Amino acid sequence: MPGFSPSIEDLRERVLSCRRCPLSENRTQVVFGEGPAPTELMFIGEAPGEVEDETGRPFVGPAGQLLTRILESVGIRREEVYITNVVKCRPPGNRVPTKEEMAACWEWLSAQIGLVRPKLIVTLGNTPTHWLLGRNDGINALRGRFFPWKGGIEIFPMFHPSYLLRNPSKAKGSPKYLTWEDIKAVKERLSSLRSPTPAN
Ligand code: URA
Ligand code: URA
Repeated sequence: MPGFSPSIEDLRERVLSCRRCPLSENRTQVVFGEGPAPTELMFIGEAPGEVEDETGRPFVGPAGQLLTRILESVGIRREEVYITNVVKCRPPGNRVPTKEEMAACWEWLSAQIGLVRPKLIVTLGNTPTHWLLGRNDGINALRGRFFPWKGGIEIFPMFHPSYLLRNPSKAKGSPKYLTWEDIKAVKERLSSLRSPTPAN
């Protein structure tokens, strides 16, 4: 859009009428994403689920409620972060979105990232992690590490909260235990990005 810089609300308007891929045929609502723009911290999930498709809001079903609690456990308020997904429409039966669907939606996600201007992006689970980092190692190998990405942004993969719902153990080394370590690392990274230690 040469000569035209849309606001995040302009972008939402465009995305709400998107028909670029077949997911648009079965959706109830487009789930664009929500949160302040700009803001420092952005969370990217896979795709809307059933409750998201019904309400038009990201991460509001069971996995979303767990995500909200994970944030609150380190004093991050959900309202201060931007939350969205790689694709904005629910795949039938919650299947993983295809490469074609993610590619069709990428213009929207990349424009969102450009408007949110995060310092740190947390990718939730394999799908957004693989899509943004362009590598295929499993989430177990990638989670809990900071990866430099475009524009000085860092990417920090974490487990998907749906995976934590299926693996409720909190024992040392369990996915929930590691997620607790990970969200503390996110909190610390945010603090240091806000007040960088002066190099003398
Ligand atoms: N799972 C996701 O990946 N995204 C949502 O918005 C909800 C559940
Ligand atoms: N598979 C995923 O996509 N995400 C997880 O967090 C775990 C397994």
